[in-house]
Amino acid sequence: MKKKEYTSFIKETGPLYPEALIQKVNDRINEYLKAYSDTPQILKKAITYSMNNGGKRLRPILCLTVAKSLGKDCELVMPVACAIEFIHTYSLIHDDLPAIDNDDFRRGLLTCHKKFGEDIAILAGDAIFAEAFNIILYKQESPPDILVKVLSEISLASGAHGMVAGQIVDVFFAGKKISKSLLEYMHTNKTGKLITAAVISSAILSGASDDNIGLFKQYSENIGLAFQITDDLLDLESNIEITGKTPGKDLLQNKNTFPSLFGIEKSKKIAKEKISRAIQIVQSMDVDKEWLIKIAQFILQRKN
Ligand code: IPE
Ligand code: IPE
Ligand code: MG
Ligand code: MG
Ligand code: MG
Repeated sequence: MKKKEYTSFIKETGPLYPEALIQKVNDRINEYLKAYSDTPQILKKAITYSMNNGGKRLRPILCLTVAKSLGKDCELVMPVACAIEFIHTYSLIHDDLPAIDNDDFRRGLLTCHKKFGEDIAILAGDAIFAEAFNIILYKQESPPDILVKVLSEISLASGAHGMVAGQIVDVFFAGKKISKSLLEYMHTNKTGKLITAAVISSAILSGASDDNIGLFKQYSENIGLAFQITDDLLDLESNIEITGKTPGKDLLQNKNTFPSLFGIEKSKKIAKEKISRAIQIVQSMDVDKEWLIKIAQFILQRKN
C-alpha cells in the first residue's frame, strides 16, 4: 500500500482496526527478510516486493488480537502471526498468476509475475510458503507438543484440506453453476480456513481453554466467510484506487461468488448475519472482547 493510500485506509478504518499493529507486523516481517543473505538476489527481491507491498495484515492482526484477548502479550504469537502472512502472500502470488486469476495489480502495484515474470513468481510463492514453516519452527517459542498442534492447524488449513481445495473449486467450476453448499465450501476453504488457523493457533499458543478454542473457531468461521463475501462485493462495487486490484474480474472470468448466486443485497445480508453471529459468539466468551468485536465490524465495513 502506498503512503497516501495507507493514510486514507487508516482514516477510513482506524476506529475499528488496531492499526498500530500493522507496523509491528511489518517490522517483524522485515526483520525475518533481512536474514536472507544467502538467497539469490532475484528471489530475495521478489519475496521482499510481495511481502512488503502493503496489505491489511488481517490474519496476523487477528492472531495478535486473540492473544491479547486472552491476557497475553502480542509478542508471544508474533512469529506464527508473521508466518501466516507469509502463507497468505504466497497464496496471493499464485492466485494472481495467468493460469489462475490472471491479475495485473495487487495492493495497488504490479502483481509479482508482472514485475518479475511467471517463473520467478511461481518460485517466490513456493519459497514463501516453505519459509512460513521455517519461521514457526525456528522463531516460535513454545513447548514442542503445542508447536505440533499449531503446525497441524496451519498446514491443514493451507493445503488439500483447506485453501488449495477451495482454490481448486474456484478454478474448476468457473463458468459452471454450483450449489449454495459448494459455494460455501469454496469460500470456507479458500479464505476462511487460513483465517481460522490464525485465530486458533493463537488461542492454542495462549493457553485457551477447550471451550474458548471451540468458540474462537466458530467466531473465525463466521468472520472468514463474511470476509470473502465482502471481497466478492468489493470486486463488483469498488475500484482499483481503493482496493488496489482490477475490479470486475470475477464477472469477467465467470467466477462463482456470493453476488453471482444470491445477488448483491442478499449477499450483504448474509455477510451481516455472519458478522452478527461472530459478535454474539464473542459476547458469550470470558475474554477481552473489544478488538475481536471491532475487527468483526471492520470486516463488514472495509473498503479494501
Ligand atoms: C485478499 O486478501 C484475498 C482474499 C482471501 C480475499 P486480503 O484482502 O486480506 O488482502 P491484503 O493482504 O489486505 O492485500
Ligand atoms: C483469493 O480469492 C483466495 C486466495 C488467495 C486463497 P480471490 O481470488 O477472490 O482474491 P482476490 O480478489 O484476488 O484478492
Ligand atoms: Mg482467486
Ligand atoms: Mg484473485
Ligand atoms: Mg476476489
